[in-house]
Amino acid sequence: MISEKLQDAINEQIKYELYSAYMYLAMSADCSDRNLTGFEHWMRLQAQEEIEHAMRFYDFLLERGGRVELQAIDKPPFEFGSPLEIMEQSLEHERFVTSRINGLYDLAQAEQDRPAQIMLQWFVTEQVEEEASIDEIVQRMKMFGTDGAALFMLDRDLEARGPEEVEA
Ligand code: FEO
Repeated sequence: MISEKLQDAINEQIKYELYSAYMYLAMSADCSDRNLTGFEHWMRLQAQEEIEHAMRFYDFLLERGGRVELQAIDKPPFEFGSPLEIMEQSLEHERFVTSRINGLYDLAQAEQDRPAQIMLQWFVTEQVEEEASIDEIVQRMKMFGTDGAALFMLDRDLEARGPEEVEA
């Protein structure tokens, strides 16, 4: 049985994962409005992944005899600025999520909840990948530019992103 403290913290994290989905979906809509179809596609897949993250926590709570209590989700911004600013905001957000995952891991250790620690290890690894993939895009934009041919080619490459394999 999961402790109430950890249960509450995971319920809070479900909210942040769903907010992440909300934010990426809002970014996707903003990119769609500017005909950045690759960015739009990339952000939409990112939103789907965030819903899967929320469901991992949701299922874990139910499996452990915890109570899922969904929280209110904040409204995301409507506009996000330039393509580079969108990616920089994504990176900043993922760094924030990483700090939350680390905090959850520390709490699972303090509560001596080994199943939660094992479940959270997947998220620790996932956050490394999330930050690295977005940072790569940010660095590419800074190196090759953020308009004209460079933006066109990046948008085309982002369009090629496929859905991530979801591990069992
Ligand atoms: Fe669920 Fe992008 O972290």
